[in-house]
Amino acid sequence: MENFEIKRLKKSFNVEIDSIASDKSISHRCAMFSLFSNKTSHIKNFLEAEDTLNTLSIVKQLGADIKRDGSNIEITPPKKLNEPNNVLDCGNSGTAMRLFCGLLSSLDGAFTLVGDKYLHARPMKRVVEPLRSIGAKIDGADNGNKAPLFIRGSKELKAFTYHSQINSAQVKSAMILAALRAKGVSKYKENELTRDHTERMLKGMGAKIETDEDGFINIHPLEDYLEPLNITVPTDPSSAFFFAVAAAITPNSRVLIKNVTLNPTRIEAYKVLTKMGVEVNFVEKENLYEPIGDIEVKYKELKAVKIEENISWLIDELPALSIAMSLAKGKSLVKNAEELRVKESDRIKSVVSNLEKCGVRFTEYEDGYEIIGGELKKATINSHGDHRIAMSFAIAGLNCDMNIEDVQCILTSFPNFKEILNSLY
Ligand code: S3P
Repeated sequence: MENFEIKRLKKSFNVEIDSIASDKSISHRCAMFSLFSNKTSHIKNFLEAEDTLNTLSIVKQLGADIKRDGSNIEITPPKKLNEPNNVLDCGNSGTAMRLFCGLLSSLDGAFTLVGDKYLHARPMKRVVEPLRSIGAKIDGADNGNKAPLFIRGSKELKAFTYHSQINSAQVKSAMILAALRAKGVSKYKENELTRDHTERMLKGMGAKIETDEDGFINIHPLEDYLEPLNITVPTDPSSAFFFAVAAAITPNSRVLIKNVTLNPTRIEAYKVLTKMGVEVNFVEKENLYEPIGDIEVKYKELKAVKIEENISWLIDELPALSIAMSLAKGKSLVKNAEELRVKESDRIKSVVSNLEKCGVRFTEYEDGYEIIGGELKKATINSHGDHRIAMSFAIAGLNCDMNIEDVQCILTSFPNFKEILNSLY
């Protein structure tokens, strides 16, 4: 596996970046949702990374005609869905596997979803159980809790009322996709609003989805095809966040990140940086399915912060925030974040075990950690095959030199990460 040597940055930077990876969540959804139309969807700026290209390949295996000119993609759905004669490979992506569970459960055919060794270790019961309860036929390893998953699609899914106890956009999205072809109006409730790209995009395509006064999302089954997507995918705020942290930990530095989705469920980590003393400015420029604009981040001395709520709005950025916490003055805390244990790696373990190597003092909890801010020292980091761990500690390397092992995983979400990092020197 490839290694990545990062040298301490001995100067400040003031940069504008417009080449950060496109949004992963939105790109997955573009590829999948194009199947709900009977016309060609036009997608610009699709994320060309392993996870989303795997999703695109699955959509092709299902019979879509795909014309691709780099990140510009046209997807023409098939008249009748193709029952694939091979397994559908989701690679490293939990989003792909869980959303496809919902989408394929209601289609005519048999489907097998597989992924890499990390994805095969992640829990699938959270989508399999509620889908089974409405008549979906899904089986798999560990009684259907682990991939490979075998789906026998059914045209007879029941409408449902489901109050999820897990705050997960993936579970919500899987259920919404199944509900679009269920027999009647379905209702889904979550305890905390999770990222809502699915609702926004499907509504933009003409689906009837609205939230009632009891907080239930009402999903009406499709009566017809939806309008095709016509979208330029914005920059991914979670990928951009690595460079926000880079500016936050490098004295006198500033970064301006262009054309990011400013969806409130996605930019909470930038607000945490503000609480830590950093200057952050948002400038909204347009609204296409979601608000989109620029984010400016300027260095200020970091102070400690406590994070105990809005966890689902921060879940992907907590590893990068742990680097900022390690360099902040005082004790920082992350609690109620047990979901970190079932991400691409056990991110509580991956964060604290690597911080320990960097000489950081911490306490590990079942649902988070406390970090005592101070200094970071050079170490050899184990990414645990997790892209966000690899990139977080690469950013830490700007402060103290770092050697990251097993960085291949960065290709799942942010192929030009290294190039942008190098441009800061
Ligand atoms: C995602 C939802 C989140 C997030 C993941 C992408 C999505 O997961 O961590 O990176 O695109 O729906 P959960 O919904 O499981 O929390």
